Amino acid sequence: MVLISRSGGPLREAARMAEERGCGAVTTRCHEMDLSDLDAVPDEFRSVLESSSGADARYDSCLLVNNAGSLGPVGLAPSISSFDEMNNNMQELRRAVDLNFTSSIWISAAFTNTFLPSSSKICASMTAQLPLVRVINISSLCALVPFPTMSIYCATKAGRDMFHGVLGKEQKQNFKALNYAPGLCDTQMSQYLANCSVLDNELHEYYVTSKGEDKWIQPEETAKKLVRIITMDEYESGSHVDYWDV
Ligand SMILES: NC(=O)c1ccc[n+]([C@@H]2O[C@H](COP(=O)([O-])OP(=O)(O)OC[C@H]3O[C@@H](n4cnc5c(N)ncnc54)[C@H](OP(=O)(O)O)[C@@H]3O)[C@@H](O)[C@H]2O)c1
Repeated sequence: MVLISRSGGPLREAARMAEERGCGAVTTRCHEMDLSDLDAVPDEFRSVLESSSGADARYDSCLLVNNAGSLGPVGLAPSISSFDEMNNNMQELRRAVDLNFTSSIWISAAFTNTFLPSSSKICASMTAQLPLVRVINISSLCALVPFPTMSIYCATKAGRDMFHGVLGKEQKQNFKALNYAPGLCDTQMSQYLANCSVLDNELHEYYVTSKGEDKWIQPEETAKKLVRIITMDEYESGSHVDYWDV
């Protein structure tokens, strides 16, 4: 299991938990990487992949969980632009698009490319030798519903869903992609929104009330549901499945 994020501490803690629960069957490697740095991502991700898929590496199956994401600028859609030269918001906007969309889709493409030749080059006799490849995009209800004041998050999540939808339809042999929306989870992202003064009033009220009523889903709970979905492998490639759908 290869784990990637910017912060070494939480990464190592996640690795420790995975090894502990894997009862000796799971080995982990951690890579501290800023996935919004588009100049660095190709080389760094390639070296991660090459160290996983060296000449003698053989896999029955390979799974990518494409999880990293950020909210980007929150507020009314027109407020993302400003003609103030010192504070024109373009950098913040670019960082959000780079992480949530560009880097995310590049990584799914690179992962697929590494483990499978494109569908048109796979003949029937090859399929048994190739691994099963699964790409899970961690999506959101925001990919489907335009929530006021969350335009950048909704737009990038929608674009990311569409990319994985197309990938899931194109690549037919040994491959499936899934857009999984984990539900409203108890994480730093939701905590931020519950305290966000520029979030749409109705949405803000929903975050605060649902938190008060203990309705936020624990990350472990939604992760377990995703594991069930992946294990059963019955979803249509390229589809969008929500925590509450199954
Ligand atoms: N929370 C929800 O209710 C909810 C609902 C629907 C969908 N989602 C989706 O679930 C995914 C995880 O969100 P979350 O709620 O866990 O958010 P979070 O608490 O903000 O965590 C974001 C995760 O992404 C990593 N990350 C952020 N920026 C990164 C960067 N530049 N490079 C590498 N890694 C980066 C973070 O690790 P580092 O900070 O260490 O880099 C962290 O592991 C996101 O795709 C989000 O859109 C969340």
